[in-house]
Amino acid sequence: MLKNFWWPLEFSHIVKDKPMRVTALEQEFVLYRTPDGAAHVMSDLCVHRGGALSDGWMSGDCIVCPYHGWEYKSDGACVKIPANQKDMAVPKKARVDSYPTIEKYGYIWAFLGDIPESERPPLPELPHFDNPDFKVVRGTFEWPVYYERALENSLDAAHAPFVHGGAFGNRDEPEIPEYETKNYSFGAEMQVTLKPQKKNIPGLWKRLYKEEAEPKGVNTRAAFWMPCMTLLEVTLPMGLMVLFNFHLPVDEYKTITKWTQLRTFFKGNWADGDAVKRVLKIFNQ
Ligand code: FES
Repeated sequence: MLKNFWWPLEFSHIVKDKPMRVTALEQEFVLYRTPDGAAHVMSDLCVHRGGALSDGWMSGDCIVCPYHGWEYKSDGACVKIPANQKDMAVPKKARVDSYPTIEKYGYIWAFLGDIPESERPPLPELPHFDNPDFKVVRGTFEWPVYYERALENSLDAAHAPFVHGGAFGNRDEPEIPEYETKNYSFGAEMQVTLKPQKKNIPGLWKRLYKEEAEPKGVNTRAAFWMPCMTLLEVTLPMGLMVLFNFHLPVDEYKTITKWTQLRTFFKGNWADGDAVKRVLKIFNQ
């Protein structure tokens, strides 16, 4: 897997001061916040006897291993070994791996690689997340697949008429028109117009489509950023629907997608349940 990237390991709102474990890229990480509110990511393996720091607790700005009480600062350095006599120094090699951490777009990102800071790829620019016109819902979906397969699915327009026939495609008109791609430094995007299949549009959205005798094409924009993010932006008659998928590889056979959906229509909390249901329906399809 590609380690020299920023990886979105967890939603911001999930990570509190109580340490928690996240499994990703076949490794165990511990995520927690220090009293100043800053989020941190470290290896979930105490260097003493392999205790899980995620089962530990916070003491000031240190995370405490539950097995023998060793205390670690967020840079990974052990600063206290309770069994040692007062005048004994803590050995320099007593440290766990800690990872540069950024909190942005509602996610906790960790840089898991080993290249110097000046060479690290930046986070993608995702202006949707700072736009107050959007109503946001978030959730997770677990796939029994390697993450590359989940990524590919998010970008594959040709399957939409067959798998998601309705708002995002028409099985009677499945041709994909000519489209151009635009390259970013660490990703790319394409825009294509799909024909909706009006008779299959379910629920709340049906009312908005009803006005149109002949539904227009639905402009969709799909984008990808390394190492694991995709965007689907759909221009519907009632506004913009945007779905970001952050496909986190757990191991070779499991991916957890931590998704964020943003919409410019039906912005009351009352419509959140419907929005979540629609996203999960698409994933389940
Ligand atoms: Fe962590 Fe002993 S295993 S302190």
